[in-house]
Amino acid sequence: MKRHIAVLNGIIALCIVPATASYSFYVGSNLTASGAVLVGGTGEEVSSHWLKIYPAADHTTETVTVGVTSAAVVPGNLTTIPQVPHTFRYISMDYSDYLGFPPPISNGGVNEKGVAVRDVWAPGRAELLEMTPKPQKGPSYSDLARLVMERASSAREGVEIIGDLIGKYGYSDYGGNTHLIADKDEGWIVWEFAGGKGLWAAERLGPNDIRVSFPGYIHDFPIAFKNHPDYMASDNIVSFAVEQGWWSHHSGKPFNIKKVYGLQPGQKTPAGGDAEYMSPDRLEKLTKAMVPVTEKDLIERVRDPRISNDEAGYGQVVSLHADTDPDMYRIWIAPTSSVAAPFIPWWLGAESIPAELGEHRYLTKDAESTFLNPDYQLQEASLFAGRLFKRVLYYMCSAPRTYLPIVKWAFIGFEDQSRKDIEWVEKSAKVMIANGERNATRSLITHYSHTRADHAIEMGRAMVDALDSYVKLSGNWLGPKGNQINISPDGEPVNCLVGIDPEEPPSKQSGQ
Ligand SMILES: *[C@@H]1O[C@H](CO)[C@@H](O)[C@H](O)[C@H]1NC(C)=O
Ligand SMILES: *[C@@H]1O[C@H](CO)[C@@H](O)[C@H](O)[C@H]1NC(C)=O
Repeated sequence: MKRHIAVLNGIIALCIVPATASYSFYVGSNLTASGAVLVGGTGEEVSSHWLKIYPAADHTTETVTVGVTSAAVVPGNLTTIPQVPHTFRYISMDYSDYLGFPPPISNGGVNEKGVAVRDVWAPGRAELLEMTPKPQKGPSYSDLARLVMERASSAREGVEIIGDLIGKYGYSDYGGNTHLIADKDEGWIVWEFAGGKGLWAAERLGPNDIRVSFPGYIHDFPIAFKNHPDYMASDNIVSFAVEQGWWSHHSGKPFNIKKVYGLQPGQKTPAGGDAEYMSPDRLEKLTKAMVPVTEKDLIERVRDPRISNDEAGYGQVVSLHADTDPDMYRIWIAPTSSVAAPFIPWWLGAESIPAELGEHRYLTKDAESTFLNPDYQLQEASLFAGRLFKRVLYYMCSAPRTYLPIVKWAFIGFEDQSRKDIEWVEKSAKVMIANGERNATRSLITHYSHTRADHAIEMGRAMVDALDSYVKLSGNWLGPKGNQINISPDGEPVNCLVGIDPEEPPSKQSGQ
């Protein structure tokens, strides 16, 4: 999709991301205030998103179904792969649709081993998509994200799991994809390519690295990667490029994964192209300027209205520390685009999530053509946090210079309060765990997160009511002028960018 910068009456309006994108941030442990590795980002899908904690499980002789159906943008066949004897507990924001992939879909989250996963588009060259077998088969990006969270005890192991699965069972793609996999020590970018040739490449990120995927990328890559601790790839990553004439040992040019396998000039994929304006490079510079980076800083980066708009399905920020009890991995999650929603802290040991953050029918696949399953009757009767904060987004972005600062500072205040509370919650939890009070610990962290979620929803309701009254009573209500409720393929999504100087970090614009 084409992004453009339009100057309207001296006010800059920007459209900066493709229709389907996602972004992730990795900050190495030497660049953070706490010494933890920090990971943040969002999934950009139209679909509703809901919070889910998947318990650890033991399995006997089962298999796992993976892949895509004929509904996918590149049609495929579902297949089964062997299950492992034990899968780990993990937390994920699930969703129901992206380019026809079968629900529920995940971009990752964090597991009980402290392995965090984020999934980001990375357009590959169009020839790869053309040579993809139709039907294609093998795990999809979402399957890979889940399988890593279920099976990996470290980031490096996560990469090996992806490489092994692609080698054995293939890979179902939509045009090129990357995963960021991180643990307390390091991060890895894994780029999976369409084509059905089992092509993938991975690059390690260390304690002094900052990496923003928007889209995901890997640049220069050593030909002798097999003996290199910082790189992994499929055996054919160099030879295939040579066979295709995409790179030559005699070219005198470095083997650059993005240049060889990435989108070529003039090409398009269903995953969209590069982000031309808010490039990874720009976002990395903005993040570097925050060193030593705190969780609060990374939340500000994820919430940046230049990347956080109607397309951002949720927001996530997680710190990966050494010596963390498996129940105590904490992840901040905003229930929809974090420009319009507060982050709520969740621990992996939480026993349940509130109905309001669970799956609802608003923006969920097939909801417009089927009635509600009575099994979900009460769940659907509850208020949906995703919908509530979308309403905040639509009101707020109708006059962002007036409403955005007020709403944003309320969220920041709310998160500061949570951050203070977390100190006593985690101290208490530590003492309880040391005393063998595992169940009481889980009750405590569950109670705290539920309480914060309740307060967040209360705040959201008050905001929506206030904005609704203010917009209507102040004469600022505007009904639709046309009759198309859905955006056109080239249309700009709702965003809060009007009046924001694109060259300035948002922290300098707080007074607007
Ligand atoms: C951390 O950063 C400092 C300052 O840049 C550097 O001197 C040091 O070697 C780094 N430590 C590690 C473990 O990389
Ligand atoms: C395999 O996939 C193709 C395309 O998605 C579909 O038309 C066909 O029915 C599938 N076959 C089976 C056995 O599912």
